[in-house]
Amino acid sequence: MRSFSLPASLALCTVAIALAGTLAAAIAGCRSLPASKPRELWTAEEARGAQVFQQNCARCHYPTTTRGLRGPGLQALTKIKAMPSGAPPTDERMTQTILHGRLMMPATPLSDAQLHDLLAYLHTL
Ligand code: HEC
Repeated sequence: MRSFSLPASLALCTVAIALAGTLAAAIAGCRSLPASKPRELWTAEEARGAQVFQQNCARCHYPTTTRGLRGPGLQALTKIKAMPSGAPPTDERMTQTILHGRLMMPATPLSDAQLHDLLAYLHTL
């Protein structure tokens, strides 16, 4: 009897875990934003942009969560319909915000190349 019931209960358990996993993923999926592009898949320009972000933005913005630091978290910034201000997350609007600042956010002077790389990085978030 034991030799039958053990595999059977194991199989049941596997099904239960699989179901629970699917359910958890479905529930999480309702609330969570699209995932950021993993670091190991970054292109050279995205990796350079990440450095520009570290040097100029990271003290005020978390890149991988929407939780605020001194400014709003920027997870999925370019995949959402509107940025916290309500403006669409277009490259033009982001460039404007970065180069000229916005309310409590200071202007960040960047070269064209730095800005280009930074925008590429922001699209990975
Ligand atoms: C000294 C802190 C600080 C730094 C440095 C900073 N920000 Fe901000 N950022 C803020 C604050 C505060 C806001 C919210 C402004 C507001 O009230 O609309 C903001 C807002 C934003 C927004 C949202 C704009 C909108 O329309 O809602 C983006 C995108 C952004 N910052 C990107 C960046 C990037 C990229 C950098 C680096 C080049 C950067 N920030 C550097 C503080 C900062």
